[in-house]
Amino acid sequence: MIDITLTINGEKRRFSVGAGETLLELLRREGYKSVKKGCESGDCGACTVVLNGRAVTSCIVFAAKADGGTVLTAEGLESGGVLHPIQKAFLEEGAVQCGYCTPGMEMATYDLLSHNPDPSAIEIKEALSGNLCRCTGYVKQVKAVKTAAKKIAGEAK
Ligand code: FES
Ligand code: FES
Repeated sequence: MIDITLTINGEKRRFSVGAGETLLELLRREGYKSVKKGCESGDCGACTVVLNGRAVTSCIVFAAKADGGTVLTAEGLESGGVLHPIQKAFLEEGAVQCGYCTPGMEMATYDLLSHNPDPSAIEIKEALSGNLCRCTGYVKQVKAVKTAAKKIAGEAK
């Protein structure tokens, strides 16, 4: 086992992890159930979290490699019972159906809007291209990201 430290959703925590344990496995066993297990090969985006400011598919990151890093999951988007503008936008635009892809989509959106506060539809589609959804036609998610961008810009005023 390897001892590592991660700051998850603002909380610094220590873990013992196996050499082959993925960040996805660690997060789920520690109760961060918004991080969904899908393909486990980096293809579906269900397990997307923000690691050191960038969206990553946590199923293909070894937990030991993330040592010292900062992780944000969908649990960490909400603050004091208030949903993050990204979460509100996904709900308002009806971009959530079964919801399995939603946390990963939201984390990819968080990365996008952190670096590009007013993305075009093409930029949004590119940013979400690694996040598969079996329920929707992606139109609502693109709208949700646009709405989230507007909400965040409004809050910053
Ligand atoms: S479970 Fe990680 S990309 Fe599919
Ligand atoms: S809402 Fe069901 S997989 Fe996307």
